[in-house]
Amino acid sequence: MEKEKPIGVFDSGIGGLTVVKRLASVLPEENIVYFGDTARVPYGSKSNSTVIEYALQDARFLMSKNVKAIVVACNTVSSVALNELKKNFDVPIIGMIEPGSNTAINSTKNGRIGIIGTRATINNKAYSAEIKKTNPNLHVYEKACPLFVPLAEEGWVDHEATRLIAHEYLDELRREGIDTLVLGCTHYPILADVIQEAAGKDVQLIDSGVASAELVKQELDRFNLHTNRFAVGNQEFYVSDIPAKFKEIAELFLSKPVKHVTKIDLEELTA
Ligand code: DGL
Repeated sequence: MEKEKPIGVFDSGIGGLTVVKRLASVLPEENIVYFGDTARVPYGSKSNSTVIEYALQDARFLMSKNVKAIVVACNTVSSVALNELKKNFDVPIIGMIEPGSNTAINSTKNGRIGIIGTRATINNKAYSAEIKKTNPNLHVYEKACPLFVPLAEEGWVDHEATRLIAHEYLDELRREGIDTLVLGCTHYPILADVIQEAAGKDVQLIDSGVASAELVKQELDRFNLHTNRFAVGNQEFYVSDIPAKFKEIAELFLSKPVKHVTKIDLEELTA
């Protein structure tokens, strides 16, 4: 039965687990199948055509697991490939840009919003386009922060180097007088404390993963796709490569033990 199928979530790597965590707290009874393309991460420095090609393969893999909806946890994929995914797959597809933008619009008081993300996300201006579509009078300041991804992967959440880099990236946005900052990348919620400190304590941080989990709930309502189960759902994890620190980082991201992770072959993905 359609309702009892799992929700599929994919990301370029393991950063999307931050979105799984949000999803599991909003929809605890749903089963989740997660795919992280750890063999080909990062996507944020790749061309649009490569990101689209990978995204279609990732979604096809999730469809082979019989998912009822797909959550594109990766902001880079959401900003580059969402339309292409919607054209190719006949299940609800939820990205990060629309929910993250709407939350930022509702949060800002002074109309000055900062966006941080990978180079691809920022170069594609997906967040600013979405925000301006709703309210062209808002001021949007965007900044690529590529070093935040490896810092989060290293677990350097409370490290002097991370603080220095955060200031280097964010001082400029702070000078623009933003009162709201969208964490437009899967990994950035991990560094939220350091980002908050550098952005200024009065700046409201927006976690796109939180906003998207709410949107997933609304989409399940809209298509009548909520499971009838009451028990806590299962989570299955698939990756295209198992990095040495996978378990450690996944546990940091999810704040819970992760037992089973299945590695799939890239040939299976690209066939
Ligand atoms: N998942 C990516 C994002 O949210 C960050 C890592 C990458 O560059 O692939 O944009």
